[in-house]
Amino acid sequence: MKILVVGGGGREHAIASALHKNKDAEIYSVMGKKNPGIAKISKEFLLHAETDCSAVLDFAKKNSIKYAVIGPEAPLQAGLADVLTANGIGCVGPVKSAAQIETDKGFCRELMKKYNIAGCPEYKLCKTPEEAAEFIKKYQGDLAVKPTGLTGGKGVKVMGDQVTREEAVEYALSLKNQIIILEERLLGEEFTLMAFCDGKTLVPMPLVQDHKRAFEGDVGPNTGGMGSYSLETQTFPFVSNEDYAQAMKIMQATVDALASEGSQYKGVLYGQFMNTRDGPKVIEFNARFGDPEAMNVLTLLNSDFVKIVEHIVSGKLSAADVSFEKKASVCKYIVPKGYPEKPVAGDSITLGDADNTVLYYANVVEEDGVLKTITSRTMAFVGVGDSLKEAERYAENACRNVKGNVRYRKDVGTEALFEKRISHMKELRK
Ligand code: AMP
Ligand code: GLY
Repeated sequence: MKILVVGGGGREHAIASALHKNKDAEIYSVMGKKNPGIAKISKEFLLHAETDCSAVLDFAKKNSIKYAVIGPEAPLQAGLADVLTANGIGCVGPVKSAAQIETDKGFCRELMKKYNIAGCPEYKLCKTPEEAAEFIKKYQGDLAVKPTGLTGGKGVKVMGDQVTREEAVEYALSLKNQIIILEERLLGEEFTLMAFCDGKTLVPMPLVQDHKRAFEGDVGPNTGGMGSYSLETQTFPFVSNEDYAQAMKIMQATVDALASEGSQYKGVLYGQFMNTRDGPKVIEFNARFGDPEAMNVLTLLNSDFVKIVEHIVSGKLSAADVSFEKKASVCKYIVPKGYPEKPVAGDSITLGDADNTVLYYANVVEEDGVLKTITSRTMAFVGVGDSLKEAERYAENACRNVKGNVRYRKDVGTEALFEKRISHMKELRK
């Protein structure tokens, strides 16, 4: 079975590794730059822009690829799933019109509004920066300011958290020629709910919590994600059964709404929720696995990922296809010092003892056996254990033993941070 993995980050290394567990799977990959982990398990790989649909198609055809798993959002936006599907290659990754759920934040909100889907915050779409600036000046309360297009998770500024009203105005004005969406600021605890989807049926994965901010204690600029954790219970104490059911209902309604619009959603739907006093609200949807969240769940996946891929493509996905180890996981990203604003790249790093962890490479170059950083997140360690404490200890140990001009967030998955999340939710719902 020949399967193509598109993308070269930590998420795609986790995807390729999970597929590779099936002895009959032959992995092929297309990546913008060489990920040493993916390259090692690929029968063949092409180093090329993942958004160049015709080049990816040529490579896929040349190698008689049956299925493709598309990791990042950019090729989805470029219509790669459309092109591959039209050529008989089954895709995990939605067609362009369905991927708009991520690639156009305005589309996402308007769809939620049109179909009366719960969990949509108050929002305003502004055609110009000036219109947004005027609205921010007059609005009573805090807003989140976002360009509607893709920003790699780094385009959002939240008033009262990262920026003052004046800075929010300034930020909006800096977003020249972009459509801006302003949203009421949601307060609560964030969680990620990802689900496999065959166009109709959604099968959920364990809940994960990402850590977007660059520094310990959740301060500093937003990043692609510094690390993430999941619990052996596959849910969180700050998400009630009702919250969970509501989040699933929102995801299902969204997939159904896309189908009604003529866009069948096949792939992984990623719901980023803010669990507020009044239940889960949608911060955003992504049309793919989260990065780092994919590394948590795919490390825990017990069932055959290849079969899941087959059933997503054939439209026969069922809950019986999917099971996860009932263990906790902690994923910590190693990043170059200065990331995300002034990352220092080109430094060599050496790994030390990393017992009980799985290593996923991301943006790292291997030259003559030496690993060197580039400007994005370098690599991640996932610790798996019977408890959060155990999983965290493993991931922490592996990160601490990496030598080089790099850093990581020590607090990801720690009991102290976890307790803070729980008490925050209790306080909100008092
Ligand atoms: P996004 O790029 O949409 O995932 O947003 C990045 C981060 O900004 C999220 O993880 C949230 O912490 C924050 N954020 C986005 N939208 C809102 C909102 N409406 N209210 C509060 N925080 C938000
Ligand atoms: N971890 C957030 C994302 O993948 O967008």
